[in-house]
Amino acid sequence: MAPCTRCRADPVTRVPNVELMSRYYSERSEFGMILTEATSVNAMGVGYPGTPGIWSDEQTKAWSSIVDAVHEQVRPQVELGAPRALTLEEIAQTVEDYRIGAENAKKASFDGIEVHEYGDSDMKMVYTHVAQELERRNIAFIFARENWLDENIPEIGPSVIKANLSGVFIANEKFNLETGEKAIQDGKADAIGYGIPAISNADLVKRYMVGAELNKPNFALFMGYDVGNEGLNDYPLLLTAEAH
Ligand SMILES: Cc1cc2nc3c(=O)[nH]c(=O)nc-3n(C[C@H](O)[C@H](O)[C@H](O)COP(=O)(O)O)c2cc1C
Repeated sequence: MAPCTRCRADPVTRVPNVELMSRYYSERSEFGMILTEATSVNAMGVGYPGTPGIWSDEQTKAWSSIVDAVHEQVRPQVELGAPRALTLEEIAQTVEDYRIGAENAKKASFDGIEVHEYGDSDMKMVYTHVAQELERRNIAFIFARENWLDENIPEIGPSVIKANLSGVFIANEKFNLETGEKAIQDGKADAIGYGIPAISNADLVKRYMVGAELNKPNFALFMGYDVGNEGLNDYPLLLTAEAH
């Protein structure tokens, strides 16, 4: 499952909503791997209202309950300001915050962490370097969002990232079952990340296996600042859908 921000955390404390998100992620525990919504390592790094953090003990404890709920299945307010450049001290502090965030994620029993980065400059040069350096550090996977359907964008993932990586390369954006399987068969990716289909279908794995129709995503409720459970855990599961 691709990382998808759902904005159901407490707007002030940034503590994830244990009740809502335990159910949301648990229902998706059949996915090979779940990348959670973007989670900030400090109050300065939050990008939207209602996104969760992992810098405080309270946040870490809430995440721990959510991770436990998912693992259980598997075993059987900061004001948003205009962006500005960080000072050198702030950069050092941010590096430290990432370390603490990773430690907190371990405490919360997450299986791993994804460090997110945006790139839009010389993609080929930057990602050749990134892939080679991460390869030397024995990284578990690289997950890249890249719209292969857009013919105006040169395809970077397979030729630049996967070619330089012995670990897993996960391709993402606008894939469906057929295009995803084809990408893997063609050797262009090791796995596929699904975002929007995973939001609206907790049982996406099952639906793909039996060739069932998918639920339509409700875009208006993706970032659910005031809607709580609506658009989060109320998409019908396959059995319920068939009964209708
Ligand atoms: C509601 C929503 C929230 C998202 N939040 C994040 C996020 O927090 N971090 C991230 O890296 N990508 C985020 N994405 C991007 C998805 O991970 C994914 O790259 C995108 O949906 C394309 O894949 P898809 O075509 O399978 O949906 C988000 C996408 C959606 C629709």
